[in-house]
Amino acid sequence: MSSYAEVYGSWKSDPEGFWAQAAKEIDWVTPPQKTFDAHAGVYGRWYTGGTCNTCYNALDRHVENGRADQPAIIYDSPITGNQKTYTYAELLTEVNALASVMQDKGITKGDRVIIYMPMVAEAAVSMLACARLGAVHSVVFGGFAAAELATRIDDCAPKMIISASCGIEPGRIVAYKPLLDEAIELSASKPETTLILQREQQTCDLIEGRDFDYASLTAAAREAGATVDCVPVEATDPLYILYTSGTTGQPKGVVRDNGGHMVALKWSMKAIYDIDPGMVYWAASDVGWVVGHSYIVYAPLLHGCTSILFEGKPVGTPDAGTFWRVISEHGVEALFTAPTAFRAIKGQDPKGEFIGKYDLSKFRILFLAGERADPDTIHWAEDKLGVPVIDHWWQTETGWTIAGNPMGLGQLPVKYGSPTVPMPGYDMQVLNDEGEPLPAGELGNIVVKLPLPPGCFPTLWNAEERFKDAYLAEFPGYYKTADAGYIDEDGYLFIMARTDDIINVAGHRLSTGGMEEVVAGHKDVAECAVIGVADEMKGQIPCGFLILNAGCNREHDEIKKEVIALVREKIGPVAAFKSAMVVQRLPKTRSGKILRGTMQKIADGMEWKMPATIDDPAILDEISEVLKQQK
Ligand code: COA
Ligand code: AMP
Repeated sequence: MSSYAEVYGSWKSDPEGFWAQAAKEIDWVTPPQKTFDAHAGVYGRWYTGGTCNTCYNALDRHVENGRADQPAIIYDSPITGNQKTYTYAELLTEVNALASVMQDKGITKGDRVIIYMPMVAEAAVSMLACARLGAVHSVVFGGFAAAELATRIDDCAPKMIISASCGIEPGRIVAYKPLLDEAIELSASKPETTLILQREQQTCDLIEGRDFDYASLTAAAREAGATVDCVPVEATDPLYILYTSGTTGQPKGVVRDNGGHMVALKWSMKAIYDIDPGMVYWAASDVGWVVGHSYIVYAPLLHGCTSILFEGKPVGTPDAGTFWRVISEHGVEALFTAPTAFRAIKGQDPKGEFIGKYDLSKFRILFLAGERADPDTIHWAEDKLGVPVIDHWWQTETGWTIAGNPMGLGQLPVKYGSPTVPMPGYDMQVLNDEGEPLPAGELGNIVVKLPLPPGCFPTLWNAEERFKDAYLAEFPGYYKTADAGYIDEDGYLFIMARTDDIINVAGHRLSTGGMEEVVAGHKDVAECAVIGVADEMKGQIPCGFLILNAGCNREHDEIKKEVIALVREKIGPVAAFKSAMVVQRLPKTRSGKILRGTMQKIADGMEWKMPATIDDPAILDEISEVLKQQK
């Protein structure tokens, strides 16, 4: 029997009491004066008056309480052939050394530090060192181009950037330093210092006076036995900023606070993931994404677990058995990844033959999130692995599960295609475009009644008005998730599609609006539309439709290649923008809005209705024709 209904009910009847109880799992410097202050911030703030330190809760308290020799992080890198285990005591030593170096370079509470690193343990060390100092980190995913990094530098004005000489992708080395130098060159707000981790696969030159060698400075600090006291911060002070795609090229700086974040993540580890302190937990994601922040670094460490930091891919490093090798070698009990990773594995090993080669006896649960988990993938994983496969739904903005199947409270029956039910803290509603509640089973806008629970973002960095406009204005009193879906009669949520122009490519969140801005910048492009079309492995891939300037008589193939290269250069390889086609006209409404939704349905071969507001229906036939030729 699941205690979910009882637990959710206890939250609903006394939200503050529920979260006050959960907050007891955290060591506070000074306990909060109020669990929730409805008058602070835009929609209220959690744990006001409390002071704390996230690094203390993630490391020091475990070292003090008997976990010093337990592995905290296991770095496993099939792409380089390296592995290294850091116990809690060793990780604390590393964090102290780096925090001391950062302090020497002038980093203090509230300063911003950008971390632009591949999946190496030093990325987690850097995050924790910032947390220790009360500095605010902003991790930027390695697959973004210099221009994207520059936008983030300009927005958060970091005093320091911590980076590495290179990242490693299958078949190629990604030189980070030229990207970093270019980004700093492009940005108006230059960091004073950079710390560069030289990797043996490809080192880089350092600029005198600005760039410093991460390894030698931290080694000196370590040898000197440097320690830095944890700096107490307000529970409501920012721990980090994580930029995520919005509807324009300007990304949104999602702010995460210290107190509420710790409370929510700590609660989630047992209730949602059914993980106890001391167990091995693996989120196969990247520290550049929210899943990496929450479930590679913070939640497992706050809970006293061993976390795997994996530098590799589900396939090709070296094969589709790599996940099973990691699980068996390190005794992983729960794996959390994106469905696309499983589609990739299934594509290369449809019979799951690699699975049988490893001892997976400790492995208990597979969690999926980041995109819709298609029933085929879930069935395949259940069948081949013989463990529960649990979909859950969340967003960068929330930082933890909105809807899931709380395994630690007792598993609820799985309904394929549904991430199950709302977690405590989330009062979910489905509204029509006029803001009226819809009955069970009817598709509409999924919203959360304010306030959002602890751990969710209180605002956007430097952009409070954008926060209100983008998330709170359309449905007063509610947070707009920008996902469409429905709640069935049993209270199960079904997440069907985004209501904005965000697409999900291989579990990566991307803005088609941002891509359109880049494509429209090509000299021969007069107008364009980018849509996400269904892809068997990646879920969706972007596809661009270009109208060329009148009189442009260049080869279309040449222009397409240039446009594809431009998106890679300006946004980065992660955009996976590899398909563009030239069209004569774009379908629009009479008021001039491009009918992207209808184009997408045509491209996906789905049923579609002629929009009543369409200006010229013939254009849709032209689009169908171009798509047919492309196939
Ligand atoms: N640094 C530099 N480049 C990167 C990168 C990084 N950190 N991550 C991805 N890229 C590049 C890839 O090399 C690829 O480049 P290419 O066009 O030269 O081939 C491009 O960005 C697109 O990457 P991706 O969409 O990830 O495709 P892929 O074919 O390389 O890998 C998967 C496909 C499914 C194996 C991979 O996307 C994956 O493991 N996804 C899991 C998703 C995930 O972790 N999501 C986080 C939320 S849980
Ligand atoms: P991100 O902010 O990158 O985590 O992306 C969040 C978006 O991914 C959500 O708004 C959804 O559109 C989608 N998403 C994440 N998890 C799921 C899921 N389990 N089912 C369906 N969509 C999901």
